[in-house]
Amino acid sequence: MINQSSAKTDGCSILKAVSCISCFRTANYLHTLPQLHNSVCSFSLLMVVCVPPQDFTRPPAGIKLDANGKPLGVAPAAVVQRSHRPWWFTSDQPDRVARLVDIVSHYLFLDGKDNQFEACGRQYLYDLLSRPVHDKKQIEFVFPGFPFKSPSTQKVLGRLPDMGEELLLHRLEALACAIHDEYKPGAVVRIVSDGIVYGELLGQTDTSVYHYNAEFRRICAENRLKHLTFVRLADLLPRECPGVASSDSNEMTLEEYIHAAPIIHSQFLAHDISHCNVEENIKSDSGVLRTYRGYLKFLELDLDGTSLMLDRHDGNPLSGKQRDKIRRQIAKQMIIRGTKFSDLVRTKFPSAVRLSCHEHPNKGPKFALNLFPGSRMSATPWHNVIYEAADGSLRIGHLRSFEKDDYEVVSKHGRPYYIREKSTAYSFEPQLDAQISFTRNFPFGLTISCAPSAGVSFDDLPMNKLRKLTAMHSCILLRGFSQVDRDGMIKKSEELGPILRWPAYGAIFELKENPDWDVNSSLTCEAMPMHYDGVFKTKTDEHGKVVNDPPQIQVFQCIQAPGNEGGGQTILTNTADILRYGVSASLNQSLSLKTWTVFTPQNTVFGGDHLKLPLVTKNELTGNDILRWHDPWPQWVTKFKATKVGISESSREEEATIIELLSDLLYDRRFCFVHTWETGDFLIADNIELLHTRTAFLPSPRELWRIHVN
Ligand SMILES: [Fe+2]
Repeated sequence: MINQSSAKTDGCSILKAVSCISCFRTANYLHTLPQLHNSVCSFSLLMVVCVPPQDFTRPPAGIKLDANGKPLGVAPAAVVQRSHRPWWFTSDQPDRVARLVDIVSHYLFLDGKDNQFEACGRQYLYDLLSRPVHDKKQIEFVFPGFPFKSPSTQKVLGRLPDMGEELLLHRLEALACAIHDEYKPGAVVRIVSDGIVYGELLGQTDTSVYHYNAEFRRICAENRLKHLTFVRLADLLPRECPGVASSDSNEMTLEEYIHAAPIIHSQFLAHDISHCNVEENIKSDSGVLRTYRGYLKFLELDLDGTSLMLDRHDGNPLSGKQRDKIRRQIAKQMIIRGTKFSDLVRTKFPSAVRLSCHEHPNKGPKFALNLFPGSRMSATPWHNVIYEAADGSLRIGHLRSFEKDDYEVVSKHGRPYYIREKSTAYSFEPQLDAQISFTRNFPFGLTISCAPSAGVSFDDLPMNKLRKLTAMHSCILLRGFSQVDRDGMIKKSEELGPILRWPAYGAIFELKENPDWDVNSSLTCEAMPMHYDGVFKTKTDEHGKVVNDPPQIQVFQCIQAPGNEGGGQTILTNTADILRYGVSASLNQSLSLKTWTVFTPQNTVFGGDHLKLPLVTKNELTGNDILRWHDPWPQWVTKFKATKVGISESSREEEATIIELLSDLLYDRRFCFVHTWETGDFLIADNIELLHTRTAFLPSPRELWRIHVN
């Protein structure tokens, strides 16, 4: 087996890993884009085992075509599939395990000081995942955590889960979904709440542990996070706990929990770990030492003001020395209990990948998750607060680390949920503000909702504010507002900016099945290619050059949702985030040298022709680098019009490699907001920063109205 190496050997970070075994596509980039990697010639020997991307422009043997080259029977693009990425963009993979390891690595925090993922963690994961893949079994992740919220008001907003926990749960779900996309048996994340392990040590009541636990389970159900399951400490214990085994530990009432907790706790403490020398581990194991120091630090705030920091006899505050001593004792106890807990988790789930929100060297068995792309730290939501900056970006930290005068507290479920840099964008007018609420979408975007009974219409909303929020969040979903007619939608959209009226249909494009109008697959039930609107629209610039001239914003109104969750979703991909977090600066730079061509017979209708466009360009409004792209759509996948796309001045192999890379990134769940329509939804999306597509759907009366605004 050829082992992997870090691309950082040449001082750059072009590649996540360079190895035929860990990522054949990465190796292909070396092969086909030598200018990207001219300093990593030491890997040249590895290239010989790479498999070139398949030529997706030609159909596989099983697809029969008619005289026009269109598919007979059901078109591949018409098949409602689980994974959003069209299967024909993916090469035959010689090493599925390596691909899955690569996906897991996308969700890890790899920027820590002692990170050893490339040195040994990747190999550890490879070996661990090889077993279930060989047996065609579901891949298991285990996430011990979610104990209870820190009692420190300097750290958090309250005692129940908030945006931090919700982000983490979505992140775990996205990881499992990404695995499921590529691997049919799928994946499951088992969340093992460790509240009983540490609760009593830190003065937590069983009641508060129960309520915290029940609430994050409720958040999972509310968000339909189907790949997450829950495990209680009782499920890990080798012996049955009297009075506990009779109840389903996933469905305990508060009374059952209060009754069971002391029994579970005492059985847990009895678990024998005499084979571990904790004192020695603190001295010799850098990971354990880091955990110990982390505990000491967090105990400073978490024990502050509790009875543990008061003299037992006279109630006076303890001296600094005495407080230090107690903190060291508790920290050691936490290490001991953590070791017992880890032992039980390992015994119960021997094949699972163990994830954590604490920083780890990522050499195995524990791997540190990062909460969101670009997160600069691995941090536990139960000890921190989420902060949203004025540009919509997120940070995590102790509440006291943010300047109080600069933020406002945002509530959800009737309790503080996260903090947000003060901004006038969220203040509409007092009467409206009382009826609407703002919720962040995952992984990006904002939902503004209103109870339908409030009778607030789309017509009532301040479009200047919505335009500003669209610039911050890239896409705004409006739900619960009364619908408007055609004239009302046009009039209101004009408040956003000048409307683009198309020669063929005017201001409003009705997106509904219309087989009589053979434009492209937009008016069918087939999946669409990833694209931006107006790819074929051109203008002549001040130098007399014909350039692309797409509209800036899309406004949708859902007249009729498709009525099934199996398809017809709109996927919006944040290309600024892809270039920021999905590729290295060097690869970004190399891609920015590329241009591409696009042609469909429809070009001439819209006034375009064979277009040659830059792959990476700058969004003038945000200053972000963005991708401009339209998936190639060969005739054999669709019964409608094909779209021919190519990479300029590239060999066939290089072109295929770049197309595969782009489809890999554009359908990556880290960067995609997947929207399932409900009748009455309005969606405002940035057509410059985002690309979008629609998944195939079963025949149903799906109808959207769309307006383009500049
Ligand atoms: Fe579109």
